[in-house]
Amino acid sequence: MSSPTPMWWWAQVTTTRTREAAKTCCAAAYGSDIAALLLGDSYHPGGLSLTRRLATQLGLPRDAHVLDVASGPGATAMMLAGEFGLRVAGLDLSAANVALAQGRADAQGQADRVSFAVGDAELLPYPDAAFDAVVIECALCTFPNKPAAAAETARVLRNGGRLGLTDVLGDADRLPAELTTLAAHIACIAGARPMHTYADLVDAAGLRTTRTERHDAALARMIDQIEARLELVRLTARAQAEALGLDLDRAKQALAAARAAVADGVIGYGLLVADKP
Ligand SMILES: C[S@@+](CC[C@H](N)C(=O)[O-])C[C@H]1O[C@@H](n2cnc3c(N)ncnc32)[C@H](O)[C@@H]1O
Repeated sequence: MSSPTPMWWWAQVTTTRTREAAKTCCAAAYGSDIAALLLGDSYHPGGLSLTRRLATQLGLPRDAHVLDVASGPGATAMMLAGEFGLRVAGLDLSAANVALAQGRADAQGQADRVSFAVGDAELLPYPDAAFDAVVIECALCTFPNKPAAAAETARVLRNGGRLGLTDVLGDADRLPAELTTLAAHIACIAGARPMHTYADLVDAAGLRTTRTERHDAALARMIDQIEARLELVRLTARAQAEALGLDLDRAKQALAAARAAVADGVIGYGLLVADKP
């Protein structure tokens, strides 16, 4: 699965077939135990405290209906329901993540406010104007067809609805070779875009960006956390990691490159809020 030369893999992601393969590969990686071992409960920089900040910026009334696109293991959806009193639908391409998230919601007695389904962010299985808000955390960067995902987000928002997005920021032209592989794409780096590109994408879909913030330190902390947990994977789940194409020997170098890229401002983490006029 790893790419032999820089940008080789991205160059392949141009046809529908390779786009579908990229999505499946990403969902398989995030649905694995390795993701949970490396990332913990919440699969984005800043964890639930950044989600809390995003939810506060959205300023939604209790009972508002929210779609969490690429909901991963469901921690965000459950927090939005538990702390903010929102009704949340989570959608993820990974059936394993959806099962895990739904199991947690059931176990925590939140099944009346939170539900999860398998589906693709680029083709949302909901009618027009179905939601008061859409949340997308650390996922748009992994979608091969970002304009389609942005258009679908705008479609399912009601007029006056809001989008809350956090994502990896990246300047593709300045990425070092170690951060342009398939693994780097799955790790949300190779597909990352600068903040202004996310804002342009969202605005081109008919939304209006009203706020952007940078949270680069959260990404640096996540890189440190992954490095610390890599040893655990090496000791307990090496075979599974390799089956997923994660080269544990190269991972340390990639993490060092990622840390340097954060320090140089080549990658970072951003928050964006938009509304549907
Ligand atoms: C980095 S994780 C973020 C998960 C969650 N938003 C969080 O912050 O904890 C990216 C998630 O996107 C999901 N994903 C990838 N491609 C997708 C797609 N096309 N449609 C829906 N989910 C997708 C993966 O399965 C994974 O759960």
